[in-house]
Amino acid sequence: MQVLATNKLRYVLFLGSLLFIAILASACGDNGIDTRVVPAKFPVEVTDSHIDAGEVVYLENCAACHGLVNGRAVLEGAPIHGSGGHTWHHPDRLLYQWILDKPPLATVMPAFRGTLTDEQVMQVLAYIKNQWLPEIQKRQNEGSIQYEAQVIEFGSE
Ligand code: HEC
Repeated sequence: MQVLATNKLRYVLFLGSLLFIAILASACGDNGIDTRVVPAKFPVEVTDSHIDAGEVVYLENCAACHGLVNGRAVLEGAPIHGSGGHTWHHPDRLLYQWILDKPPLATVMPAFRGTLTDEQVMQVLAYIKNQWLPEIQKRQNEGSIQYEAQVIEFGSE
């Protein structure tokens, strides 16, 4: 009886340690990159389906303040997102995080976490990116790729 109980205990301990290793392995994956952002892939893919869906998201959630991408801002102080603006100076990962959780020091721009899905944020970014001049798209894309290389090296926190 005693032997049986010990074996059972060993078995439970063994299962427990397997579970612990599994949890540890999943927590340490991807060099500690912000796990909230892991489902997203950067640079954002500018596909036709992303662009089409992103247009709806943009017109319903962003245009009231930012105006059309290559147009004029509607709300004073809202930056324009087009080729003549500053948005393209930032890598996709940061733009994505700012749309979800507000840009740093923002006082007017709302956070869209809870309002938009991660997928919709990717779509709206694809829609914005697609309207930049080709050479600007190329530069911003290269910047996004470089930024990703740094994130992978140092982690994003
Ligand atoms: C209520 C008005 C408002 C709405 C709605 C809004 N924004 Fe903004 N946004 C701003 C303002 C104003 C700023 C500048 C920071 C501040 O003062 O809050 C800003 C800043 C930004 C920035 C950082 C600045 C830049 O050019 O890189 C991004 C990116 C951005 N908004 C994207 C969006 C997207 C995408 C949406 C829709 C999903 C959106 N915003 C909806 C007002 C708005």
